[in-house]
Amino acid sequence: MLTNIPDQSAEYLFSTRHERLDLWCDLLQRCRDWVAANCSDAKEQKRREVVHMGQHLQTLERYHAYPGQRLMTIFEQRIGEHDDVGTLRLARRICSSLLDSSYRHDANDWEPADDLPDASAARYSINQPSAQFRPYFELLIVSSDASGTWAQKQQDIRNLRRHDDAFVYQPIIVGTYEDALLAVMLNPDVQVVAIHDGFQRDANLSARLRGMLDQYQSLVGSQAHEDPTLELAVALKQLRPELDIILLRDRNIERTAGNPQMAFINRVFYEFEEPMEVHLCVIEGVANRYRTPFFDNLKRYAQRPIGTFHALPIARGKSIFKSNWIRDMGAFYGANLFLAESSATTGGLDSLLEPTGNIRQAQLMAASTFGAQQAFFVTNGTSTANKIVEQALLAPGDIVLIDRNCHKSHHYAAVLTGAYPLYIDAYPLSEYSMYGGVTLASLKQALLKLKRDGKLERAKMMVLTNCTFDGHVYNPLRVMEECLAIKPDLIFLWDEAWFGFARFSPLLRQRTAMHAAAELRKRLRNPGYRQRYAEQCTAQEAFTDDEMQHNRLLMNPESTQVRVYQTSSVHKSMSALRQGSMILVSDDAFAQTEGAFREAVFTHTSTSPNQQIIASLDIARRQMNLEGYDLVMRATQLAFVIRKQVNNHPVISRYFKILDVADLIPEPLRQSKIASYVNDSAHWSTLSQAITDDEFFLDPTRLTLSCGHAGFDGTQFKQLLAGRYNIQLNKTSRNSVLLQTNINNTRSDVAHLLQVLVQICRDIDQSIADDENQAQQLRSRVTSLVEDLPALPDFSCFHPEFRSDALEGTIEGDIRKAFYKAYDHEACEYLKLSDSKIDQRLENGPPLVSANFVIPYPPGFPIMVPGQVVTAPIIDFMRNLDVQEIHGYTCAQGLKLLKPEHVG
Ligand SMILES: Cc1ncc(COP(=O)(O)O)c(C=O)c1O
Repeated sequence: MLTNIPDQSAEYLFSTRHERLDLWCDLLQRCRDWVAANCSDAKEQKRREVVHMGQHLQTLERYHAYPGQRLMTIFEQRIGEHDDVGTLRLARRICSSLLDSSYRHDANDWEPADDLPDASAARYSINQPSAQFRPYFELLIVSSDASGTWAQKQQDIRNLRRHDDAFVYQPIIVGTYEDALLAVMLNPDVQVVAIHDGFQRDANLSARLRGMLDQYQSLVGSQAHEDPTLELAVALKQLRPELDIILLRDRNIERTAGNPQMAFINRVFYEFEEPMEVHLCVIEGVANRYRTPFFDNLKRYAQRPIGTFHALPIARGKSIFKSNWIRDMGAFYGANLFLAESSATTGGLDSLLEPTGNIRQAQLMAASTFGAQQAFFVTNGTSTANKIVEQALLAPGDIVLIDRNCHKSHHYAAVLTGAYPLYIDAYPLSEYSMYGGVTLASLKQALLKLKRDGKLERAKMMVLTNCTFDGHVYNPLRVMEECLAIKPDLIFLWDEAWFGFARFSPLLRQRTAMHAAAELRKRLRNPGYRQRYAEQCTAQEAFTDDEMQHNRLLMNPESTQVRVYQTSSVHKSMSALRQGSMILVSDDAFAQTEGAFREAVFTHTSTSPNQQIIASLDIARRQMNLEGYDLVMRATQLAFVIRKQVNNHPVISRYFKILDVADLIPEPLRQSKIASYVNDSAHWSTLSQAITDDEFFLDPTRLTLSCGHAGFDGTQFKQLLAGRYNIQLNKTSRNSVLLQTNINNTRSDVAHLLQVLVQICRDIDQSIADDENQAQQLRSRVTSLVEDLPALPDFSCFHPEFRSDALEGTIEGDIRKAFYKAYDHEACEYLKLSDSKIDQRLENGPPLVSANFVIPYPPGFPIMVPGQVVTAPIIDFMRNLDVQEIHGYTCAQGLKLLKPEHVG
């Protein structure tokens, strides 16, 4: 009987690279078993297994250049000749080449001979790559020629390549629309697609491939176009916007070239009329994406002999390399760090504050890669990026609608700008001592109340965190569409500090602010949408608040402005140095704001920005453009693996659980009903339905590991992992820790984590095995961690002294006034939490008014802000809090309050 090969597509949802490698390693093992089998029946059985596996792999191999048809045919021949040893040798050779990607640089890997040495030019090395190193990619050709001619065509293309090309590439040829889509999804090495007219549609795709294709197509939607070549080009761009597309047309060439909607196409050629030009175009397209204007120039700068008579003695490193005492600094960091430092903005280095040269070019390239109209580099983290955007767009007295649990930079931005924050609470997840996101119903409700109170004009901006620290991903398209229906010029700031990588996942991209902004514009231009609005608008204008709340609202295409900003901590999810951040802009009215934006940049940007951070932003952009798709899919795949392994593991799952979709997103906010990432419902089509429909989606890469049932609070567990097992993680909550996979993680990291969790479970088992005392202690500790949780206090309101009106239910307030009031020592008093005066004042007044921010870690959001009325639930929460770190509060002094006589 043949061993069953499971349909692993659900298992390897995000990375077919993993699937392919696993299949090859499986095949290798079966080849070994074949060689080792010691009777003819067993040998035949093993041989058939190898045949079966080989056929299974063939379906994937046609989308990859290596091992390619030639080696696969030899492989099959050897099996057919019952050459078990020869088959094993070839399988071993291919496997090893795939595992370390040496086929990219080692011509011998493409040869069937068994005794060729490894050239090993490109083995992994943290040292600099050799001067001869040339990045590798694959060119996908969608052809209308008979498949019998493909091998020759591939060879013809290879013959065009030259030693002085900046990159090495290998061609792959497919003949159908379906195979083209599958190839770009399954093969991340594809960077350029050349499409000939006249390719076929494949009605006979295998069930497995058809299944995969349907899943991917659910991301593309139906884009039927009368011209199949253009339809394919559009679909490919939707899946992977970074791809270069070349058309090799035999008709309509002039019309295509002149079509402004086809501006995304790199070049249109008349068939294969000019092969060398096509080759050069392939190389040039990738070279343009590879270019890092600032970094390239910095490298050149570092090589020049330059005398410096400005500040920054470390520039050029002479005082370091000649020092008697700090030479180790030079040895540790290496010469380039110092040679590439300067406080000058001349010499081609450009100025971050007024970029006109290579920083400007680098920013333009970043804008294009991240789908924005403009991009601005920030070298002081997203904390500063947020303040820049808010200062540029908010003035004193404006109202900013804001998630109370947002990062503290937003609260401080409100203090700086004098805007009135209108805090809206996210839905609570009290069981885990954390919040989710702010529901669309709450956002609409807040806007509608402002409208009723005649204050809608003052509502300038909405600030939301996407995704939240714990992975709640908003539906920015839906949120913006419905909020713009109420306030057509509302500006949105999406704090995507954690989510910058999402642009490179075809799935998650749809939940990014920049993608949503582009979609909003498409809707506003779309005649169908305009028609629907025209039909609904009379009814919509007459809606009661309740109907506004419960009906899906449409934007007015005449008055709506799309004004969207996104901040992204590039350093959090991509290869930028710490503090490297970007502001992405997609704003119809940016021209009016540009002056204020520049002022805000001047206000917050250091006049000595770090050159290396700027360079790393440039480099991170290059990397994401060229390999972001691969890296992000892999990181996501690893997250899925961790989720499944932990939650299904017989030992680990007794004490630990990674919180699943249903744990973190209440059902009414999951229209698709997706509940889990670890059961069989997690495949592309359900995920893509959830991405489109659900109010909230869970970022699969953010893994909340509940550790309360193991008797650990988040902080303890974090310390245990770091101290004993060298595992560092993200944040903690009372009974959980947050793990995160990113583009840096490997399968070995996952194995390490799982091994450690098993070890910890064993230790717990052992400690309670024969000791009832210990078992009892564990039980009561677990109860306190998972059951006795203080309720999360919602935002109360600002004291009337800090409000602009006396209307009932007014939440927004002048945080800046309250903040500065606390500078007056005489206006402040301290009350200890244990002091009974607190209870008396809660009961009889005068109200307790916070003088400052109080932010416990965890959970990390402000329990109190300056000017806020302190209520009984807040005091209860504080009294029950058992965390060590509370910013803005010390046990010895107590709560800092504004004295009643100073708040009227
Ligand atoms: C949601 C959010 N926004 C902004 C920031 C600040 O980012 P940075 O560390 O790049 O200053 C953080 C930091 O953790 C954050 O979580």
